[in-house]
Amino acid sequence: MAPSKIGYVGIWNWDSCFHALGLRHGDPEAAKDQLRIILTHQLPDGMLPDVVHDAGVLASTLDLPLSEQGYGLPPGWDPGVPMPLTKPPLIAWAARAIWEKDGDADFLEEVYEPVSLALGWWFRTADPEGNGLFGYDHPYSSGLDDSPLWDGGSPVEAPELNAYLVLQCDNMAAIAATIGRHLDVPRWRQRAAAITSQLVAHRWDDRAGLFVSSRHGEPIPVATPFGMMPLLTGRLGKRIVRRLVETMSDPGRFWPRHPVPTVALDDPAFEPGRMWRGPVWLNVNRLLVEGLARSGRPAEAAALRRHTLELAISQPDFREYYDPLTGASPQRAAPMFSWAAAAFLDLAVAETHASEG
Ligand code: GLC
Repeated sequence: MAPSKIGYVGIWNWDSCFHALGLRHGDPEAAKDQLRIILTHQLPDGMLPDVVHDAGVLASTLDLPLSEQGYGLPPGWDPGVPMPLTKPPLIAWAARAIWEKDGDADFLEEVYEPVSLALGWWFRTADPEGNGLFGYDHPYSSGLDDSPLWDGGSPVEAPELNAYLVLQCDNMAAIAATIGRHLDVPRWRQRAAAITSQLVAHRWDDRAGLFVSSRHGEPIPVATPFGMMPLLTGRLGKRIVRRLVETMSDPGRFWPRHPVPTVALDDPAFEPGRMWRGPVWLNVNRLLVEGLARSGRPAEAAALRRHTLELAISQPDFREYYDPLTGASPQRAAPMFSWAAAAFLDLAVAETHASEG
């Protein structure tokens, strides 16, 4: 499924995971196909491409239009040398979410090896500092193209990437148990625990109440909700969870009329109408709702779920992103946006179940 029905081509890696999350409720086979399209285009080294097009995959900077090939590269990088391009790893999570609906263990069996190889690619190639924490080499791989997290250049070691990897490992452990690969279970669980403890030891900023991104070990002074994504691990101590909830619910930072802005309201980089520099994205909210639930905060998860549903309902169309102050969708945001619709659907189903008690 393309990101939008209008003028937006290609099957995009992490978009497909969110599409699967929505489709699982009505058409689990279509949901599986979203993941299959990405997995069948896996590269020999395990990496999953950023985008699959009719004419081939987009998997490095050299596959971009010429005018974009130099964007986002680390200083001194020869633009003639390909930089791999992928997207945040969420496939194990999406596969498991489909299984929760239809119980098809054959599908889990089908995806287990390729997803394992894909995670191996991250573990082998994405830890430049050798500290057991992972980063992105290019803004496109982070999925956050113009985020101020990237204003100082690449690479960026990112708390959300580490959180997603923990989420994948824990889902792989659960998948391994379901398909009878019992010996693999402790390996995945240990990896999840190790990443989480490195994250807490090195990237928790108690004063900011957020996990921080860093570049060559230096914290990046930009406040975004991606520093709250470690909630998704469900492995944080109560005190850190409490601080993160305080940060998220602060009306001066992350809880305006329409939470959650992709840059804090009081951050100098905040721009309510500019893509990843402030607007609300429904898929980001969907992840934060799950993070709150996994971290033992069901009331806050329900509050964010309702705010997100209200925002979506208040607009005539599912849009790529929304202004957190007015709820309106900026002109440049793509219309008829697939992951916004999918996130809405998934949250609406959860809301219905919650209200039925
Ligand atoms: C934009 C987003 C990216 C997304 C893509 C397709 O480039 O930044 O995260 O995958 O659009 O929707």
